[in-house]
Amino acid sequence: MVTKLLGPQALERSQGVRAKEVERFYSNLLDKALKNETVEIAEEAMKLVNNSLCKMIMGRSCSEEDGEAERVRGLVNKSDALTKKLFLATILHKPLKKLGISLFEEELMDVSRQFDEVLERILVEYEEKAEEHHQGTDMMDVLLKACRDENAVCKITRNHIKAMFVDLFIAGTDTSTHTIEWIMAEIMNNSYILERLREEIDSVVGNTRLVQETDLPNLPYLQATVKEGLRLHPSSPIVIRTFEEGCRIGGFYIPEKTKLVINGYAIMRDPNNWEDPLEFKPERFLDSSRSSQKDAIKDEVLRYIAFGSGRRGCPGANLAYVSVETAIGVMVQCFDWKIKGDKINLNEAAGKITITMAHPLKCSLVPRTQISLSSK
Ligand code: HEM
Repeated sequence: MVTKLLGPQALERSQGVRAKEVERFYSNLLDKALKNETVEIAEEAMKLVNNSLCKMIMGRSCSEEDGEAERVRGLVNKSDALTKKLFLATILHKPLKKLGISLFEEELMDVSRQFDEVLERILVEYEEKAEEHHQGTDMMDVLLKACRDENAVCKITRNHIKAMFVDLFIAGTDTSTHTIEWIMAEIMNNSYILERLREEIDSVVGNTRLVQETDLPNLPYLQATVKEGLRLHPSSPIVIRTFEEGCRIGGFYIPEKTKLVINGYAIMRDPNNWEDPLEFKPERFLDSSRSSQKDAIKDEVLRYIAFGSGRRGCPGANLAYVSVETAIGVMVQCFDWKIKGDKINLNEAAGKITITMAHPLKCSLVPRTQISLSSK
């Protein structure tokens, strides 16, 4: 997954794929602006994130026309609701865990069967068109090759491939989508931050082309804004570990197999770790944006855990940063945003596994500049 999809070199190779999707995202927003239509940010962001991920994984996006994309997005939402139930059952206790699985079995099997149908169709289509379209190097090619290799030490089946794709959709779609929504809401509530972002983007990128991933190292305030958004609104706030061995921590003996539930949300709002923890202040990250010193980043390791930590930390963090930063960059660069009322309500929805807004962000938008796209 890392060498073919999420590692730095793989991400560099797939930059063009994401740039096309960002252009499509911009065109959709522009179209809605010109027709005076209201935009639901999470809906547009989800299309962007989901299509980019599909293209990166399997060289094509899910088709909007025949409802395939809608189905995949619906399945991701259903899975999120189910994950919550299973997650609670897992935390609570073993017997409940067993009970949990049998209680949700029907729902689980239904989502699983539907994912299987869509993905099997995509796999077959990919195999049929492999010769014309692919050079045998993307992630899907490598997995299918391993699947056909009878002598492989570690046998990969079609089910493994499908399960891995489902895992990636679930891990990567809702998280990035709602991060984009939260950050736009914070920016719209704070005109100083909006102006500072615009100044930075206008001076580095200008107004004749869209923000691109290659601009990001030169946009430290944009990077800091996204980091601050993830600190206050981590979409996966809870991280779980199981102790492989008993050990002593802070005077307490922790037996082997204990489950540790780490509340990243509380850690990232802890006044002992952060000054004015509840305020949205991108400036706090200006010295530690990704392009600057490694020491500052080290200092953050224990108090900034939006992507978890260690060997099981999120392997999609780099992809998430570049995707969210470009999406926010383009929205700030190209449009003025109008909302009903003075301020956006930042309450959180109750009982979701991904932290989402209680009132989904809706706004109308006015183009600031019209950019002619390279693909048109
Ligand atoms: C803003 C977006 C995202 C956030 C906040 C986020 C956060 C997280 C967190 C907190 C974990 C648990 C880490 C741990 O236990 O230490 C995780 C795991 C994971 N994430 Fe992400 N993630 C995001 C985007 C993505 C993307 C775009 C992908 C890939 C397409 C991805 C793939 C994964 C996978 C596969 C795991 C499981 C890793 C394992 O258990 O070994 N994530 N993510």
